Amino acid sequence: MWNQRYDEKGYAYGTAPNDFLKSECFRIPKGGRVLCLAEGEGRNAVFLAKQGYAVTAVDQSSVGLEKAKTLAIDNGVEISTIIADLVDYDLGKEIWDGIVSISAHVPPELRRKLHNQVVNSLKRGGVFILEAYTKRHLEMDGSGGPPPSQKELFMSLDELKHELNGLDFLVGAEIERNISEGKYHQGESAVVQVVACKKA
Ligand SMILES: C[S@@+](CC[C@H](N)C(=O)[O-])C[C@H]1O[C@@H](n2cnc3c(N)ncnc32)[C@H](O)[C@@H]1O
Repeated sequence: MWNQRYDEKGYAYGTAPNDFLKSECFRIPKGGRVLCLAEGEGRNAVFLAKQGYAVTAVDQSSVGLEKAKTLAIDNGVEISTIIADLVDYDLGKEIWDGIVSISAHVPPELRRKLHNQVVNSLKRGGVFILEAYTKRHLEMDGSGGPPPSQKELFMSLDELKHELNGLDFLVGAEIERNISEGKYHQGESAVVQVVACKKA
């Protein structure tokens, strides 16, 4: 499904970074190593590379990451890309200064395992930034997010607090906001936003 989507002309979620990431990335230690989970066509990874971070983008879609590399070249920066299913991907131990998860909706069991790895793989002082759709999005006018048939893929602040136990929450909110990201994320949307850091 994702390779098919990314095979379309243009960038499915645009080439500009996610607004929340753009406003909060200053909290990631300067010049640090950042991992972008489920990064797709690379808009967030390329933005972070332009801010001076050493960025690795992981996604299961080869087509998406190929476009991410092109976007990086077009912007005069380098990013590392890893084609992997997050089911198998090992995030490592205390190696990342920042981890970013934007609209990375995976099944709950995998999400719990992944978020446990996020806690373990951040360095002390490292920062996790997440924005994802909440169930409430199904009542909104905006596009984007998992389909109604896969409600279990939505996220909530309560679940995230539990899954990210071990991190200190600097931001944790469920909000409604207008999103304009390419063709597939448009309009009034309900999202959860998290910035959480590992104690130095
Ligand atoms: C809505 S897109 C978001 C892409 C990117 N984070 C952004 O904000 O532009 C969701 C992405 O999650 C990726 N994805 C979903 N399940 C995955 C998995 N199990 N392993 C790796 N990537 C996955 C898809 O390939 C897709 O690129």
